[in-house]
Amino acid sequence: MSPTQAKEHHGAAPPPVPRLLGMPGSPGRTRPDGSSDHIRSDPAGATCPVETWDARQVDADVSAAVGCVLDGVLTERVARAYAVDEQFATDLAARVADFTRAGGKRTRSQMLWWSLRACGGDGWATTVAALRVGAALELLQTCALVHDDVMDGALLRRGRPALHADLRTRYAGSCPAGRAGRFGDAAGILAGDLALAWADDLVAETDLPASSVRPVRRLWSDMRTEMVAGQYLDVHGQTTAAQALPRALHTACLKSALYSVARPLALGAALAGADDATVRALDAAGRCVGMAFQLRDDLDDVFGDPHRTGKSGGADIREGKPTYLTALARARTAAAGDDRALAVLERSLGDTGLTDAGLAEVREVLDATGARAVVETKIGRLVVRGLRHFDGAPLDPEAGSRLRELLRRAAEGEPDSPSAPDLTARESGR
Ligand code: IPE
Ligand code: IPE
Ligand code: MG
Ligand code: MG
Ligand code: MG
Repeated sequence: MSPTQAKEHHGAAPPPVPRLLGMPGSPGRTRPDGSSDHIRSDPAGATCPVETWDARQVDADVSAAVGCVLDGVLTERVARAYAVDEQFATDLAARVADFTRAGGKRTRSQMLWWSLRACGGDGWATTVAALRVGAALELLQTCALVHDDVMDGALLRRGRPALHADLRTRYAGSCPAGRAGRFGDAAGILAGDLALAWADDLVAETDLPASSVRPVRRLWSDMRTEMVAGQYLDVHGQTTAAQALPRALHTACLKSALYSVARPLALGAALAGADDATVRALDAAGRCVGMAFQLRDDLDDVFGDPHRTGKSGGADIREGKPTYLTALARARTAAAGDDRALAVLERSLGDTGLTDAGLAEVREVLDATGARAVVETKIGRLVVRGLRHFDGAPLDPEAGSRLRELLRRAAEGEPDSPSAPDLTARESGR
């Protein structure tokens, strides 16, 4: 299976259509002219001829198609960054480009695409617009992740050093003692800002179908605001040790469910010109599955294999994140009068120096209180409830089933990767 096929993980085999040109492979370093060594040109020398693609070609490998659009955009942006300043371009612009090119699972752009297709969207103008807005979603994701890692003090992302940690290490030898951390954080904020600016530019510079201009602009604007609101509630809850269950769910919805699932589906529907009832059905489905996606992410933080997630395990516990999982465990230990379990949670949540043995104790409490099982059950129910919203919606049968499968997988968590990086070696550089 190719890396891009692995990223998509759809159940049904793609139709036998020609491969796209300019398929991205493993991430390469960006050169000063903005290009990267993982772009392949067609024999005539043109890369990613988006205007020649039709929707069925994109169906065969959505992730590759979005990657091609990203390559073109990033090449141009990085070249312009070098014209502004070489230091800025090498340190920040090229890093933002490399991170985005390498990508993660690229689920948001795939959700947009399959929502568009399920709502009957095709035609080359719509295809190009959808790929460009999908690429913008991946740039927004770069902003979200780079900023999130600064806020969460996370050192690992997608199996590599987080961008701010990478820059901190790069300049540790040239800073006065104690300054490298602040430098890395500042650079991470700027890198995220740059990614957001590029994402916004890409949406603004996309020719949208006339009927979708207003809804797409409104959705894009709402999505960014919701994400910022959610991230604020997340750090606010961490600081105030908020434990209320409804608040934990509200935060998860704003910081993740909406921009990860609901809004990408809504953008696809808007680009396809779907009717109001279909838009409502997809929105309701997206909110349910989006919540399931974040609850899975919270479970993965504690119980997932870092080789699979590409992130350090137990980060939410050590940071004292007010997740639904931990809020539920607290509520259940308090209700059961289990003082020992409550004491484990009280002393572990927010303990940045928590050892692996301490983390194992927290896992035991999450298991013993039944909190883990309740969250698992809730994820399953949310997915079932979410997909039920598809019943009766006038969706294209084939694209609709691809979309269902994509949503199911989003709530399953990271797929196993046979070539997972050696995180232990990287983490030891803390
Ligand atoms: C991670 O999102 C951030 C969350 C909202 C939980 P993904 O799990 O989609 O990350 P990538 O893009 O695949 O790395
Ligand atoms: C991140 O939530 C949400 C955004 C990036 C907006 P998390 O902090 O839970 O994401 P991970 O676990 O670090 O990927
Ligand atoms: Mg976070
Ligand atoms: Mg985080
Ligand atoms: Mg998380």
